Amino acid sequence: MISKKQNYPQIKIIHVILIVFSFTACKSLNQKSTDLAGLKNVSEFPIGTAININKLINDEALMALQISNFNSITATSDMKMREILPAENQFNWKKADTILYYANKHKQRLFGHNLIWHSSTPKWVEEKGAKDNVWLGEFMKEYIHKYVGRYKGKVAGWDVVNEAFESKGSEYRKTFWYNNLGKEYIANAFRYAHEADPAAVLFYNDFNIERDTTKLDAVLKMVEEFKKEGVPIHGIGFQMHIRMDTPDEVIAYSLKKAAETGLQIHLSEVDIIFNTHNDERSGGIENYSSLTNEMKQAQAEKYKNLVLMYRSIVPKKQQFGITLWDFTDRDSWIKGFFNMKDWPTIYDDDLKPKPAYFGFLEGLKVKIEKE
Ligand code: G3I
Repeated sequence: MISKKQNYPQIKIIHVILIVFSFTACKSLNQKSTDLAGLKNVSEFPIGTAININKLINDEALMALQISNFNSITATSDMKMREILPAENQFNWKKADTILYYANKHKQRLFGHNLIWHSSTPKWVEEKGAKDNVWLGEFMKEYIHKYVGRYKGKVAGWDVVNEAFESKGSEYRKTFWYNNLGKEYIANAFRYAHEADPAAVLFYNDFNIERDTTKLDAVLKMVEEFKKEGVPIHGIGFQMHIRMDTPDEVIAYSLKKAAETGLQIHLSEVDIIFNTHNDERSGGIENYSSLTNEMKQAQAEKYKNLVLMYRSIVPKKQQFGITLWDFTDRDSWIKGFFNMKDWPTIYDDDLKPKPAYFGFLEGLKVKIEKE
């Protein structure tokens, strides 16, 4: 869904990438003994991953890789409303507290995902809120105050609202929250989170904004409105669930436009697939059913270029970090959700580093001459 209307300005980054690429194109991105020092140890900004805490702490091999590579942690699902408040007045803090303990023990930043998302709203909230919008407005305020307040000073930032726009284009998504509270629910969620923890970095998080410039423009318009109204929004989360055919120049253009807001930029859920889909559950379109060495090398270059673009386009003071969503092909959400084969991450099914790992690492290590 790339808008035809815009010609993408020649971004200097593309020249940087082409220069770097020309030096390394022939060199395949595979392991060198010095390369397993861990991604976080060669990065100027936090490198994170999303995890399922019970899976992580019960898998020593996975945990070893997570500890050696990452200094930021996000819950794939454990910190969503459906897990925190599965029934009325029954707060369930166990998983979130376990994640906090793990993050502190391994000196990792904890990032809160997420406060308000239509896909993780418990049924009981939907049933009660649909009957009584006044109750719903109050509920949202109390929930955010209580949750963010409990982790005040312990959760570095939050995805306050996730995916409030349609998958494609510029429309607000007509979700339970939008339909019952109007679009003001978004600004209010940010206000409540800021009241509960003024130091927390508050993000709006969405997908396809790195490749659908109409959707990106709509998000940036909301951001500008919030800035004018004094709504406490501090960051934009690009989920960055991209495909091998997502053009680098569109990603570069999107990062440039978002960085111009002056907000923190978080690549919050990175993975890179070979196949494609229609953004819906079981909507996978499987063009590739096996992974070749050539595909592995191409994915490594894509990861390297993504990291290079982030480093070159987003000013250092706005680099909140890059977070991978799951970090092994074995555990990636993609295959189950879209019902298709794919190999989206930096470690394979056997938890061995792929060329993509070394591409990501290379992207962190390459010296960038800033203008
Ligand atoms: O924990 C329960 C388990 O007790 C139960 O036996 C099992 C079977 O019903 O379900 C388990 O919960 C699942 C949860 O993941 C933990 O694994 C939920 O059913 C399942 O819906 C949930 O899926 C998550 C999905 O968000 C919905 O919350 C995925 O893991 C997670 O990767 C995905 O992440 C989203 C981001 O939040 C937003 N951006 C897109 C991204 C991918 O869809």
